Amino acid sequence: MRCELRPATPGDVPAINAIERGAFPCPWPEYAFYRELENDLSTLKVLTVDGEVVGYYDLWVCANEAHLLNVAVADRERRRGYGTKLMEDVIAEAKHSRCVRIVLEVRPGNEAAIKIYEKLGFKKVTHRLRYYSDGEDADVMVKSLREP
Ligand SMILES: CC(C)(COP(=O)(O)OP(=O)(O)OC[C@H]1O[C@@H](n2cnc3c(N)ncnc32)[C@H](O)[C@@H]1OP(=O)(O)O)[C@@H](O)C(=O)NCCC(=O)NCCS
Repeated sequence: MRCELRPATPGDVPAINAIERGAFPCPWPEYAFYRELENDLSTLKVLTVDGEVVGYYDLWVCANEAHLLNVAVADRERRRGYGTKLMEDVIAEAKHSRCVRIVLEVRPGNEAAIKIYEKLGFKKVTHRLRYYSDGEDADVMVKSLREP
């Protein structure tokens, strides 16, 4: 089994889109991922296993702050450590870009995601009302990258 984490290419977008549709109640449209590939702020990476895309993330770096827009693993591939691998790479990317923190939004009931984030040192800092397009609120979590 060969795992690779690499920058996404246009050829990966159909697989990313299929994972997105199975992962989120309000998925991004497919064209949004092509747009992200052209966006200088964005790092869109895929995790492949034996050449097949099993997960991806989209991270924006704006000045000294990183914002995680999306992370997902294909339904059938969950609980195998791939989400953790993706998140460890998010942290490495943000450090490499000299960011002082990583910010993300998460649905308060998303136990799986919140567990990983907490395990990797993210802390809930605030709450955004009606953040999602279906009207659900978001918890905002932050990981500081400054040395203590
Ligand atoms: C969140 C997500 C990326 C996790 O991916 P994953 O590959 O299953 O994660 P991992 O296998 O690395 O899990 C790491 C730990 O997270 C926790 N966890 C993961 N899934 C869980 C679940 N369904 N319920 C409870 N805890 C869970 C566990 O502590 C797990 O460790 P363990 O398997 O040793 O018990 C995946 O569930 C997903 O794609 N969800 C839909 C998209 C999404 O919600 N993304 C986050 C948006 S903010």
